[in-house]
Amino acid sequence: MEYIFSLEFIYLIASITYIIGLKKLGHPETARSGNLIAAAGMTIAILGTIFLYQGEVPTFIYTLIGVAILIGTIIGWMVAKKVAMTKMPELVSMFNGMGGASAALIGLIEFGHYTGNSLSIMTILGGVIIGSVSFSGSMIAWAKLNGTLSKPLRLPKYNLLNNLFLLALFAFSAYIVWSGSSSQLLLYVLFFGALTYGILFVLPIGGADMPVVISLLNSFTGLAAALGGFLYGNMVMLTGGILVGSAGTILTFAMCHAMNRPLSNVIFGGFGDKGYDGSGSSSGIQGDIKKTTVSDVAILMNYSQKVIIVPGYGLAVAQAQHAIHELEQLLEKRGIDVKYAIHPVAGRMPGHMNVLLAETNVEYDKLAEMEDVNPEFQNTDVVFVVGANDVVNPAAHNDPKSPIYGMPILDVENAKQIIVNKRSMKPGYAGIENELFFNQKTSMLFGDAKGVIQSLITELKGMS
Ligand code: TAP
Repeated sequence: MEYIFSLEFIYLIASITYIIGLKKLGHPETARSGNLIAAAGMTIAILGTIFLYQGEVPTFIYTLIGVAILIGTIIGWMVAKKVAMTKMPELVSMFNGMGGASAALIGLIEFGHYTGNSLSIMTILGGVIIGSVSFSGSMIAWAKLNGTLSKPLRLPKYNLLNNLFLLALFAFSAYIVWSGSSSQLLLYVLFFGALTYGILFVLPIGGADMPVVISLLNSFTGLAAALGGFLYGNMVMLTGGILVGSAGTILTFAMCHAMNRPLSNVIFGGFGDKGYDGSGSSSGIQGDIKKTTVSDVAILMNYSQKVIIVPGYGLAVAQAQHAIHELEQLLEKRGIDVKYAIHPVAGRMPGHMNVLLAETNVEYDKLAEMEDVNPEFQNTDVVFVVGANDVVNPAAHNDPKSPIYGMPILDVENAKQIIVNKRSMKPGYAGIENELFFNQKTSMLFGDAKGVIQSLITELKGMS
């Protein structure tokens, strides 16, 4: 009975909830309950740490903890309640940054308590560097995701500069460990150095390459938290940190694969730099676009045998997920084969399109991954591109100067007819023109995705 109320037991339970939660997050149908289970485990771990800790703790510390939890809970609750679905990626980036900052703060506070213990000092400095890079990098990612920083900012020779900066940070930490110094000044120099490196690291990343950086920063936060757990011998912190770190690492490799970029380029440079100057167009595309109307598209779809829908960020902006599901069901009822082609970096966060479509209960087997669906486009009558742009941009194949060159895309060009729905000719996240819109087979259906799809549904319902 005594064991049940021990901190070890609480930590064991909490660790198990993280593992179950993570497993359940792997599928849209179970993700919600997985999130709740892991959050409940985290709550138990926090309460256990506060109330079952065996050492002497002054009462005012409890008051401080209580006030901090209250303020954090109120702010977190209000922000999460109010945030629009489209702002979710930037909020996640902000939360990730907060995790990194917390890990760095542990290092700043504990540094003076472990003088003479080289292993602990190395752990602390590792936590300070990785946590700080994760914090400042995530803040830049946040600004890039919400559009405040719309173009990559690059100093001359930025790759060389960044790599030298990183080497200097390692050399400086080695000096602190080797000298056995307990100087807070040296620690703060390292802290601000790491913050600066995080900024320099993320600022030059070109638009379309952000998914890799975001998942890498996720794994950094997990690693920094794990180092904190190692320092304290705190099993739940260690487990949580390792799970976040390894999940983030797996995601980073998946994103590298999706973008066709080696991870070494992400960390050591050349990344996102394909001679593109961020000016908004690298290809100077010329030609005319062909506009179409809702009724023409409805007729085209009605007489098709196979339609593939390509959802992108604009579908999330328009909150058109329910409308597109209704359109899909309507077409299916008429015997038309319909599926969704999902690009791994469509939208603004990993799995964005899957989450969006799961919200409206689209059947999971209707979602086709890029590798599986690409060979199918040539047998497809109509591709309906809804609010997607970069993920269908042929510059990824044809233009070596393009920032997305080499990125695998959905080969919608191979379909018989291409309908593109967006509001204007403005570029997508990478800030570049799209020659697909000028393709002979492409017709542009301008307008907000939700309104356009609803009109399509009305039009189709009026047809026999
Ligand atoms: P984008 O290339 O960003 O294109 C979205 C398009 O949607 C825009 O061209 C926009 O054109 C249109 N749009 C916006 N609101 C709309 C509305 N209400 N109705 C209809 N259309 C609307 O999106 P994508 O193709 O999904 O590609 C994702 C991009 O984001 C990639 O470059 C990717 O690298 C980057 N990114 C992804 C992630 C992750 S992890 N997924 C993270 C960070 C960055 P109009 O303004 O003309 O309507």
